[in-house]
Amino acid sequence: MQNVKEYIAQHKDRFINELIDLLKIPSVSADPAYNQDVLNTADAVKSSLEKAGCDNVEICETPGYPIVYGEKIIDPNLPTVLVYGHYDVQPADPIELWDSPAFEPVIKKTDIHPEGAIFARGACDDKGQMYMHVKAMEYMTSTGNLPCNVKFMIEGEEEVGSESLSWFVPRNREKLANDVILISDTGMIANDIPSITTGLRGLSYVEVEVTGPNRDLHSGLYGGAVANPINILTKMIASLHDENNHITIPGFYDNVEELSREERDEMAKAPFSLENYEKALDINSVYGEEGYTTNERNSIRPTLDVNGIWGGYTGEGAKTVIASKANAKISMRLVPGQQWEDITELFKNHFESIAPKGVTVKVTPHHGGQGYVTPIDNIGYKAASKAYQDTFGKTPIPQRSGGSIPIVALFEKELESKIILMGFGLDSDAIHSPNEHFGIWNYLKGIETIPHFYKYFTELSK
Ligand code: BES
Ligand code: MN
Ligand code: MN
Repeated sequence: MQNVKEYIAQHKDRFINELIDLLKIPSVSADPAYNQDVLNTADAVKSSLEKAGCDNVEICETPGYPIVYGEKIIDPNLPTVLVYGHYDVQPADPIELWDSPAFEPVIKKTDIHPEGAIFARGACDDKGQMYMHVKAMEYMTSTGNLPCNVKFMIEGEEEVGSESLSWFVPRNREKLANDVILISDTGMIANDIPSITTGLRGLSYVEVEVTGPNRDLHSGLYGGAVANPINILTKMIASLHDENNHITIPGFYDNVEELSREERDEMAKAPFSLENYEKALDINSVYGEEGYTTNERNSIRPTLDVNGIWGGYTGEGAKTVIASKANAKISMRLVPGQQWEDITELFKNHFESIAPKGVTVKVTPHHGGQGYVTPIDNIGYKAASKAYQDTFGKTPIPQRSGGSIPIVALFEKELESKIILMGFGLDSDAIHSPNEHFGIWNYLKGIETIPHFYKYFTELSK
């Protein structure tokens, strides 16, 4: 039996080229203009699963984009691993900030990736990481190294809230039955500091609109006498944090699970350089909630951020005008204990209540999802930890991430299994940003590590 390292060495160029082909399809789920590309990507994922040795590969229709399913059941008495990933990507905007076009992948060396990285939208989030599992599967089936049953479930709406998957999962509990869910859609600390993600934040995403006069007005004739929606909106938003950067919405922190001193001390042991962090972002200081460290602020604490704000005149030159409307998109990252629907409701009530006379305020909820934390005393985590030990030569550090994969909490509830987040991306890989990339070393390391997970999970299940 060929070992995985040899197999990768032999097939590495093909592995890279296949990923590059997948990255050329602009599967932007947020923009209807890419509808056909998203569907074509689902087809491409389907044939890749077939080639990797999966049976019963199908495109499962949903009210939205399809879910690609495939499986290899070798013995019903053996454990089953369910692999989840997403084939949709974020919009490439702002496209002018890309050094090369987002859907024309190129390989370039960087300081962090001396062996080269593939630059393209979706390279790391999540096509590259999802495809590691397809290639690991190919290795296991073609060399007789598959130790257990595998199911794949790859969706096309993760970047827009996984609505169709929330519909699909409860309707397909039998089909999706598994002993552990394996996901590579997160990151790790550094290539020489492997980590396993043990927590994700939840999310509540809302849009707000402040309306003043029934039309845009001359700011000389009317200025000072009527409410300016942009002035009001910015003032309202500013009031959502106090001087310590605590969020002021009444009840916002009520159910936040606080970590014990011991847990926080444990977290603080993870290697972290504030200086490098600031340098990487070209900021002269970090900023955030009083009383918490940077790593706590971006993982175990909830946040409220404006993601976009618009209104009035933003074209060339000056135009004297009081806009009729002002708008903003606001996200709140949530932590375990906070129910996203409740938080959305609290936000709505509070935001409407602080609107002064002279304007009306409309709050429109978008999507949301629960946060997630997983204990590390289960066999899934242990199997992952041993797998990294084999391929990185180091025990991985458990790490709570600040990002969200809202569907994860639903998986645990509906499918009653633990979720293992084996991410191989780095924070510097620029996911959702211009020049997103994924290190070739990371891609191949992921392919190498995954079969070790299967082996240990099967052994530990006995
Ligand atoms: N893969 C990311 C989430 C992620 C990245 C978690 C890195 C941890 C580390 C996922 O595709 C994503 O972008 N999620 C969105 C939420 C979604 C509802 C749009 C997010 O976190 O903003
Ligand atoms: Mn993702
Ligand atoms: Mn994403």
